[in-house]
Amino acid sequence: MPIKFGRPLQRSVGFVPHTETEEAQPLDLTIRLRRNRRADWARRMVREHQVTTDDLIWPVFVMGGDNTRQPVPSMPSVERLSVDQVAREAVRAAELKIPCIALFPYTDPSLRDEHGSEALNPENLVCKAIRAIKKEVPDIGVLCDVALDPYTSHGHDGLMRDGEILNDETVAVLVRQAIVQAEAGCDIIAPSDMMDGRIGAIRQGLDRNGFTHISIMAYAAKYASAFYGPFRDAADSAPQFGDRRSYQMDSANAREALREVQLDLEEGADVVMVKPALAYLDVIRLVRDHFEVPVAAYNVSGEYSMVKAAAQKGWVEEKRIVLEILLGIQRAGAEIILTYHAKDAVRWLKS
Ligand code: PBG
Repeated sequence: MPIKFGRPLQRSVGFVPHTETEEAQPLDLTIRLRRNRRADWARRMVREHQVTTDDLIWPVFVMGGDNTRQPVPSMPSVERLSVDQVAREAVRAAELKIPCIALFPYTDPSLRDEHGSEALNPENLVCKAIRAIKKEVPDIGVLCDVALDPYTSHGHDGLMRDGEILNDETVAVLVRQAIVQAEAGCDIIAPSDMMDGRIGAIRQGLDRNGFTHISIMAYAAKYASAFYGPFRDAADSAPQFGDRRSYQMDSANAREALREVQLDLEEGADVVMVKPALAYLDVIRLVRDHFEVPVAAYNVSGEYSMVKAAAQKGWVEEKRIVLEILLGIQRAGAEIILTYHAKDAVRWLKS
């Protein structure tokens, strides 16, 4: 039977003095919630949620060259890493027990064209990084975006004709991109393009090429968001004209996210993602309540950089803010969180 709060359970309310001359009397309370908060051991014991290292995915930017690390100005402490450095960081991440790394390429502009052809090159940065990581640390998971924006000269996620992003033609290329990444050894394919029908097509493409064991984490409810700004700086993937609102979701819509998620699940997604996280905690909760599947949330670049900027100014305490944010995302219903703070968070969670 559900417990009724308030009067029926409380014996009676004691006398509360109204003037300074009246003497305070103890309230006659049956229920005192502070009892569970009195001591650290008690607080730990009644804790409902706990973020652990196992919940985190660490996104990393890959660049060309050798033994090179390049700071991303709009994302303090984040660097673009050459393939050898990515492999080195993967070793560190594995030591920290971070389960999975997400790879994002910073493609040289000379390699970009209208069709995003470099996405299909088995020797592109992402494929090289996958192989380098798998050689050094076979046990860490590697997740790769499927989308054309790092590879197209116009910076859009798909193929274009007359200013229009073509859906079905793009999906055909994305299927090939997914297979190329799977051949390189990627464990999780994460379509972030938001074309209709891409999950089903990619699932079929993977299965027909012997990759039935490769998972799909669908960027299912991906919103057209200003919070991606620093990422586009890091990957140099801002659209050259227009915006992404003809394929990414409208921030005003929450119910529509359920349709996106349902379709992606019907088409074969293993995990569904909501992105960004903080302005969309209600969407994470909706998805969690409607579907019995793993839910991921992407704590995106803008969310990261806002915390970093405020922390650098001394306005917030970075460690506590980050752990509180991660807990909030988990409480909203996400069991997997992609965060640029992953390595720090692991250290902080231990201390
Ligand atoms: C590519 C992609 C983007 C992000 C992840 N994959 C950018 C975008 O869609 O514009 C954003 C991640 C972040 O902001 O941290 N499609």
